[in-house]
Amino acid sequence: MSERYLYMNGRLVPYSEATIHVQSNAVKYGTSVFEGVRAYWSERQQELYVFRLDEHCRRLFDSLKLMRMDHELTLDEMRHSILETLRKNEYREDVHVRQTAYVAADGNVEATGPTGLAVDARPRKMAGKALDICVSSWVRIPDTAMPPRIKCSANYQNGRLAFLEAKAGGYDYTVLLNTRGKVSEAPGAAFFLVRGGVPTTPPLTADVLESITRTTLVQLFREQHGLTVAERDVDRTELYVAEEAFFCGSGWEVTPVASVDRLPLGQPAPGPLTRAIADTYFRAVRGEMPEYRGWLTPVYGRA
Ligand SMILES: Cc1ncc(COP(=O)(O)O)c(C=O)c1O
Repeated sequence: MSERYLYMNGRLVPYSEATIHVQSNAVKYGTSVFEGVRAYWSERQQELYVFRLDEHCRRLFDSLKLMRMDHELTLDEMRHSILETLRKNEYREDVHVRQTAYVAADGNVEATGPTGLAVDARPRKMAGKALDICVSSWVRIPDTAMPPRIKCSANYQNGRLAFLEAKAGGYDYTVLLNTRGKVSEAPGAAFFLVRGGVPTTPPLTADVLESITRTTLVQLFREQHGLTVAERDVDRTELYVAEEAFFCGSGWEVTPVASVDRLPLGQPAPGPLTRAIADTYFRAVRGEMPEYRGWLTPVYGRA
């Protein structure tokens, strides 16, 4: 049993009290949307920084709108729910935050509310080693069936099947193609590859989540490394001849790929551009790049 506190509908409650009914719409039909947000501890500045808090809150509003969930949530409450949860638990380490908006009513599938808001924040170490991945036999849900551009919990069953298949095949992780046969993303991360020295990522119309880390890296590549990211359709066979590849996301941060379908990439992972962008990213998120301080929300207000 965890000792930590969760935010639930305006209150901070012990972990064991943050519950909803088994017959809730969220459980029965997956009527919930969420955000995964990182907060990074800076030892030097003795401060915990939430990374791109407002962008995550705005995406949660998009998710609520797309899934037609009724709510009276404000940007202030969304921000406050995350900051208060972090403060209450007095975290002084890297943390992963999950903010969930859910329909708790015991209604039919078309129920749209009322919508509750919960936040859980738990310590999480940085993502790890280079991954051996496969191309999934599962296809990414298309925008015409379920909207992958936002974070609806039910979307994650598609990625879950792909992840489980990859694990059963002895792979660390996987990337999915979309219904047009182009590369989309991983079950829980955006995807980049490097070809001819050009960082490349599928476009936002490739049935992908509108990843905040992806947007961040596109900007950092341009401003810090003088490289324009090619946002274009990527074929499956490009994965086999790429020099480098990596996943990115709030959870996966920048995680290098070593091989695809047992074919090693051109450069031993992490390749030079993967290492360079990861280094820039980690300095930015920890408050070591003053020009990107606008992306960080200090939790304790010391900095
Ligand atoms: C399916 C999927 N794609 C991409 C990402 C990356 O998005 P973000 O950078 O906003 O965390 C995530 C979550 O982190 C995800 O779940």
